[in-house]
Amino acid sequence: MADKDGNKIAKDYHVEVPFANQGGFHVKGSNSLDWGMKKHLANIFDPKSGNTVMFAFDHGYFMGSTAGLERLDLLIPELLPYVDVLMGTRGALRTCVPPECRKAIALRTTSGSSMLNDDLSHEVIAVDIEDSIRMNADCMAVQTFVGADGQLSSLDNLSRTINAGFRYGIPTMGVVAVGKQMERTDRFFKLATRLLAELGANIIKTYYCENFEEIVSACPVPIVVAGGKKLPEDEALTLAYRSISEGARGLDMGRNIFQSEHPAAMAQAVGKIVHHGFTDKQAFEFYQDASHQ
Ligand code: R5P
Repeated sequence: MADKDGNKIAKDYHVEVPFANQGGFHVKGSNSLDWGMKKHLANIFDPKSGNTVMFAFDHGYFMGSTAGLERLDLLIPELLPYVDVLMGTRGALRTCVPPECRKAIALRTTSGSSMLNDDLSHEVIAVDIEDSIRMNADCMAVQTFVGADGQLSSLDNLSRTINAGFRYGIPTMGVVAVGKQMERTDRFFKLATRLLAELGANIIKTYYCENFEEIVSACPVPIVVAGGKKLPEDEALTLAYRSISEGARGLDMGRNIFQSEHPAAMAQAVGKIVHHGFTDKQAFEFYQDASHQ
C-alpha cells in the first residue's frame, strides 16, 4: 500500500484534453464493456447528447414519507415524459411506476439506516442481484461513505455489487454520500469519485463543488450531479448549468424537482440544459413560461 503521508499533490488534470481510449462508445470509460452493459448505459445516457436527466425519488429509503413524494403514484406519471431515468427503491418502482414506462431504471440497492440514526453511514446490500435482474434495472445504486465510520462496509457493499453486476451485465452507480462530519471540498470529492471509479463503478453520483472540472477530468467514468436541498429554481438551474458546462454527464435531481412549485416545468427546464445547450438564464425563462401554462 502506498504511503499516506508526504505524497506529491496531483495537479496535471489536463481539463482541456478530451478523455482518451473512448473508442466510439459515447459513455466515458465504457468502451471495453460487454454489449449488455453498454445497452444499459445507452438506456441511461442519451446517445445524441451523451447526457442524462435522472429523477431521484429514493429518499423514502431512509426518510420515509418526504415532502413532495407523498403520492408517487400521482407524481411519477406527471414527470415521466421529461426525464430519462427513474431512480427509486424497488418498493416504489413496483408499486407506483407503470411497467410499460420506457424509461431507464436506477435501482437503489443499499439501505439500513433512517432519519432516527445520528450516523447514517452503516448500510447493507438490501436488494440481491436476482431481484435487480427481475426489475430489469439499468444500474444499481450503492451509497458509499468515504471517510466516515461506515466506509469499510459501504465499500464492501459497492465491491460486491460491482462483482455481481459484471457477472450479469448490469452497471453499478457509486453514490458519494456527504455526512455531518464529512468534508464537502474538492479534495474530498476528488478522492471519493476516483476511489469509487477505481473499484469498478460505471457511473459516479456526487455533488458539484469548486474545481469541478478537475474532478471530472480525473474520474474515468461519467459523473452525474445530485441536486441536494431545495434551492430557489433559478439557483438550482445555475447548479445544473455549471455542472454540465464543467463536464458532468447529467443531473440526478430529486428535491429541486419534486419540491418545486411546478415539478413538470422544472424537470423540463433541467432537460433543456442537459440535452439542448440552454444556459441557466434561458432555462429559467423556460421554467417561468412553462409554469404559467
Ligand atoms: C441520496 O442519498 C438520495 O439517494 C437522493 O437520490 C439524492 O440525494 C438525490 O436527491 P436530491 O437531489 O434531493 O439530493
